Amino acid sequence: MKFFVDTAILSEIEELNDYGLLDGVTTNPSLIAKSGRDFKEVIAEICAVVSGPVSAEVAAMDAAGMMAEGDRLARIADNVVIKLPLTLDGLKACRHFTAKGVKTNVTLCFSANQALLAAKAGATFISPFVGRLDDLNLDGMALIRDIRTIYDNFGYGTNILAASIRSANHVKEAALAGADVATIPAAVIKGLASHTLTDKGLDQFAKDWAATGQSIL
Ligand code: G3P
Repeated sequence: MKFFVDTAILSEIEELNDYGLLDGVTTNPSLIAKSGRDFKEVIAEICAVVSGPVSAEVAAMDAAGMMAEGDRLARIADNVVIKLPLTLDGLKACRHFTAKGVKTNVTLCFSANQALLAAKAGATFISPFVGRLDDLNLDGMALIRDIRTIYDNFGYGTNILAASIRSANHVKEAALAGADVATIPAAVIKGLASHTLTDKGLDQFAKDWAATGQSIL
């Protein structure tokens, strides 16, 4: 499963990229607002650091507006992916970009039927929001499993991008459910490396090694 980081904060992206843990980046208008940065400027900076797909979301609500904004965003860098909302207009814009060979990420997906429509529109990525379904006491991961089954039934090439991931458990469950990608907050990605028994074992090894008085170099 590929890892995208869900952030518009460049320092977080650079740090994860240095660890070799990053396959791509997703942003949304809320994350851009949180970064306090100019949208197009920050997308250009992210694309200069990360070679994988970088999702940049349109703000328009109508298909023509989405197409115009998407065209502008696609000019920023070759690895920009146009993020479009899962509405009829968003699907129309998705079809337009797919025909032009521009990659798309159809976002705000909360049902299997929505995901089916996105695949039919030729979306590169579909973003089902796991955490926001869980917030409503619904089963976000069941949606990932349903989409996996439907896409496999018909051989759709749209990549399932598990979004609104909030915890390490979400990451594991998304991998088990067959998501192609998970977009994850930076802190959750870093937390995946932690285990209390790793820390405890390392502490003991360090003490025992020091007692030998040896040096490797
Ligand atoms: O990028 C979309 C998504 O990951 C949002 O997550 O935590 O705001 O539901 P969240």
